[in-house]
Amino acid sequence: MDTSRTVSIPLPASRIGLGTMRLADEPGSRRGAAAPIWATPSDRDALIALVRRAVDLGVSHFDTASAYALGEGERLLAEALHGVDAMVATKVGMIRPSPEQWVPLGHPALLHQQIEESLRRLRRETLDLVYLHRVDPGIPLEEQVGALQQAQEAGRVRRIGLSEVDVATLERARNVVPIAAVQNLYNYGARAHDPVLERTAELGIAFVPFFPVSPGEAVHGSPLEQVAAETGASPTQVQLAWLVRRGEHVLPIPGTTSAEHLAENVGATAVQLSEDQLARLDGWSSPAG
Ligand SMILES: NC(=O)c1ccc[n+]([C@@H]2O[C@H](COP(=O)([O-])OP(=O)(O)OC[C@H]3O[C@@H](n4cnc5c(N)ncnc54)[C@H](OP(=O)(O)O)[C@@H]3O)[C@@H](O)[C@H]2O)c1
Repeated sequence: MDTSRTVSIPLPASRIGLGTMRLADEPGSRRGAAAPIWATPSDRDALIALVRRAVDLGVSHFDTASAYALGEGERLLAEALHGVDAMVATKVGMIRPSPEQWVPLGHPALLHQQIEESLRRLRRETLDLVYLHRVDPGIPLEEQVGALQQAQEAGRVRRIGLSEVDVATLERARNVVPIAAVQNLYNYGARAHDPVLERTAELGIAFVPFFPVSPGEAVHGSPLEQVAAETGASPTQVQLAWLVRRGEHVLPIPGTTSAEHLAENVGATAVQLSEDQLARLDGWSSPAG
């Protein structure tokens, strides 16, 4: 199976994309769940060069959000991708009252405003793909995806996606508008969204795993190290190679601010896993579930 090619179905995107959430703040404060993702990065020029390096390596799927660094993430991406034909996915429906807070807010008027702001920052006439960053539990889902549908009908948005949803929510949203992609937390050590991965495959919808690389401690005792030794690939590459073998619709977006890690991650599409290796990898399950 050739995993290096670009898939035209379900999204015009490279198999491995680039998650750009962490292109923010100071290099020393970007890691971990508590990273603020709040300020313009202090090494902005180097990160623009990193995005351009990704383009050179064949990456054509870039993931951002209106909430990343209060929109500075989108600005950085627009500058880096000026003149480049690539798919940029962004997200609306999340506000940032402070560096510590991520608050879902799905009021339709806000969603419309955030779409307009993203269009401006990304310097686009139409957004390629807009996710509802989180479903706001305080507002009917139909009103939230209904706002995205209106933006789509007005030509402001090409495709609509959902983030961190279960199958029931996906089906409910599909009653309102066609969904092109679901972006959920999923990796080798965190497979709780297997039902969504399977349903999106049936529907021909893209499944975009975020946090696609499990931290080393979470996969301790798994066959990753052994398969890595057998293939000559790194354990991170084996994780990404396993992910893309979960289905043609699976489009991981590993995030990195390192050119070395970027090349490693993109190179994962060249890692060939045998049926025996896949079976061993599939057979392991994390004690954390
Ligand atoms: N929908 C949502 O709610 C949601 C939530 C979170 C994230 N996301 C999206 O998902 C993307 C991925 O998440 P993430 O950025 O946190 O990335 P990630 O894939 O979870 O990886 C993050 C960390 O892994 C390191 N890393 C990356 N490649 C590596 C490699 N080959 N070897 C060793 N370490 C490596 C990075 O550090 P270095 O910089 O040093 O490489 C970074 O600290 C985000 O950028 C964002 O676009 C979406």
